[in-house]
Amino acid sequence: MGVYAVTGSASGMGRAVAEKLRERGHTVLGVDLRDADIVADLSTPAGRRAAVDGVLAAADGHLDGAVLAAGVGPTPGAERARLIYEVNFRGVVELLEGWRSALAAASEPKVVVFGSNSTTTTPAVPRRAIRGLLTGDTDKALRAVRIFGRHAPSIAYAASKIAVSHWVRRQAVTERWAGQGIRLNVLAPGAVLTPLLEKQLATPEEAALIRSFPVPIGGFGDAGDLAEWAVFMMSPAARFLCGSVVFVDGGSDAYFRAEDW
Ligand code: NAI
Repeated sequence: MGVYAVTGSASGMGRAVAEKLRERGHTVLGVDLRDADIVADLSTPAGRRAAVDGVLAAADGHLDGAVLAAGVGPTPGAERARLIYEVNFRGVVELLEGWRSALAAASEPKVVVFGSNSTTTTPAVPRRAIRGLLTGDTDKALRAVRIFGRHAPSIAYAASKIAVSHWVRRQAVTERWAGQGIRLNVLAPGAVLTPLLEKQLATPEEAALIRSFPVPIGGFGDAGDLAEWAVFMMSPAARFLCGSVVFVDGGSDAYFRAEDW
């Protein structure tokens, strides 16, 4: 049985992943703001450090896998874009860098990062925002979305998920990750009914947008179904999966870009 770190383990898809791994007999080290084995705020450098150190200590330097599900959605608010960048991008990259040697110590280590289909369905996400995140210049990434006014959080959300997906695909194939036997992949859900989506649905303007968004099979996804995908992506059957972005979104990505992949 393995030892797995799961961020965002207190709610939604992260919680469902943690439950499914525990049901299968694995040890889960949950990381979240509350109700977790390691309570840490991933929006701050000190919180991210605490999450890295807390997991390394509890795992005794040996980690079979990690699921990075902590995230914040694009609800309105002046400071929202910064929070989105800190949690959704830095809260993935810094943790994975910190856990890398513990992952490399396992025999078939696997990592699943939660992306989003907003990466391919959100128009006009500025490249400067993505570049800013990937080069560690969060202020540049913030300036790049400011012109979108009240829509800035939605654009920042898509930028955070594009940047983290680019980071995974670039790193996955390198000596530091694939070369150490670590499989890095992204799971990109569409709209899944979790507390994150419920918060967005509570804003009338956002609710109208979400409900009119094309989902060919109709309705919202289920957290348990997405968790099954994450668990599968960490199973031995996924050993040939490396640097992939797996869209599980009821067909929205295919609807918008059938020939663009
Ligand atoms: P959720 O809101 O149910 O769970 C997210 C978890 O992350 C919560 O337990 C929360 O406390 C934790 N978290 C937030 N900020 C944190 C911080 N500063 N430090 C530590 N933990 C923090 O959300 P859900 O829907 O389960 O989302 C999981 C992932 O899937 C997120 O990365 C989200 O962006 C992504 N996603 C969600 C979609 C949806 O429709 N629900 C669609 C596409 C992607």
